[in-house]
Amino acid sequence: MTDNSLDRDGFSSDVPTDMPRHEPSRPDDDSASRKPMPFIDLAQQRCRLGDRIDRAIQRVLEHGHYIMGPEVRQLEESLSEFCGAKHALTCSNGTDALGLILMALEVGPGDAVLCPSFTFAATAETIAWFGATPVFVDILPDSFNMDVASLEAAIRTAKARDLKPVGVVSVDLFGQPADFDRIEPVCKAHRLWLLSDAAQSFGAAYKGRKVGTIGVATATSFYPAKPLGCYGDGGAVFTDDDGLANIMTSLRVHGQGTDKYDNVRVGLNGRMDTLQAAILIEKLRIFPEEIERRDRVAARYNAGLKDVVRVPELIEGATSVWAQYTIAVPADRRDGLARGLKERGIPTAIYYPVPLHRQTAYRSYPVAGNGLPVSERLADEVISLPMHPYLEEREQDRVIEAVKAELRRAT
Ligand SMILES: Cc1ncc(COP(=O)(O)O)c(C=O)c1O
Repeated sequence: MTDNSLDRDGFSSDVPTDMPRHEPSRPDDDSASRKPMPFIDLAQQRCRLGDRIDRAIQRVLEHGHYIMGPEVRQLEESLSEFCGAKHALTCSNGTDALGLILMALEVGPGDAVLCPSFTFAATAETIAWFGATPVFVDILPDSFNMDVASLEAAIRTAKARDLKPVGVVSVDLFGQPADFDRIEPVCKAHRLWLLSDAAQSFGAAYKGRKVGTIGVATATSFYPAKPLGCYGDGGAVFTDDDGLANIMTSLRVHGQGTDKYDNVRVGLNGRMDTLQAAILIEKLRIFPEEIERRDRVAARYNAGLKDVVRVPELIEGATSVWAQYTIAVPADRRDGLARGLKERGIPTAIYYPVPLHRQTAYRSYPVAGNGLPVSERLADEVISLPMHPYLEEREQDRVIEAVKAELRRAT
């Protein structure tokens, strides 16, 4: 992180909700042009949805079904309709969503599950929960997503260690789906299931396939700073497989069977609160339009910055929900750029400064082949810029001009 006031997902929780946001700034007014802007502006969306969210919360307070109330089912139907998955099950958070799927797939000791190292900890953490071994895979420098050559190397690495490769957890980093046309044939050839960690990409699509319908199951997160976020923790799993959906429905409530007091498997308490579901129902209504706005911001950033930094590239046929807008700069320029932008009131964040295979808890797990050079290099080069649907053009221009000005400065 380059700014301690930002949490791990980079939204400033101390952004005052009454902060004036639409004042025109005069180009010659230096104080206005240095006024701090939020990294993710949840307050503007809150203003836009104000009454609708208030009424949704009020309805829950009135009926009082705080756990598994009617809004939970209603949201699941809307989510399933939105992405086209046969089953959508809400749950407590994105980490538990991954855990529910891995539990249903019965991963355990001796199993190797291949996943990127350049991701948030939950991707590998949930594999380790069950005694299985995460085997880390490298990424491609342009898309930040899984490199299939490294995936093949990781399968060989796992086998050389007497582990049984059972599945792949792909990650759609920063909002763009992984390159599934390349990953799926490898899974098929090695009889591996594919779990899509779509915590950052819900709402995106890959060659006409909506995120939520790819792989044996998909996990997503509704953490507040995610493109579709609630006002606390929340997540969901998606699958077209009836059997898997039934098992996850049971696992989500302590492994309960048809008789509520006969638990038929060991599960967890993984339900989403009714209040969060009620909030998400309202947010989902405006989500498609918000995705378009995000796309416009990214397109303008790309146009303004492509000549001075490495801008994010979409693979052909993919759309992104731009959970982050992440550029790459030479490693020796990054800290100076972050500092300079901060002085100009522009927050930045680093996702991720240390790849998982270099972190204390994950250091002992295997990495593909001879290592993960791209993940290690990008950890020193990436920097994410403010991104949200309500970022006005003049604010985008301010960011673009500031990045250019800082990079023009001698080191
Ligand atoms: C790639 C990835 N996977 C999993 C998660 C976990 O989601 P949650 O914070 O809702 O548990 C996150 C959240 O940041 C994520 O970015």
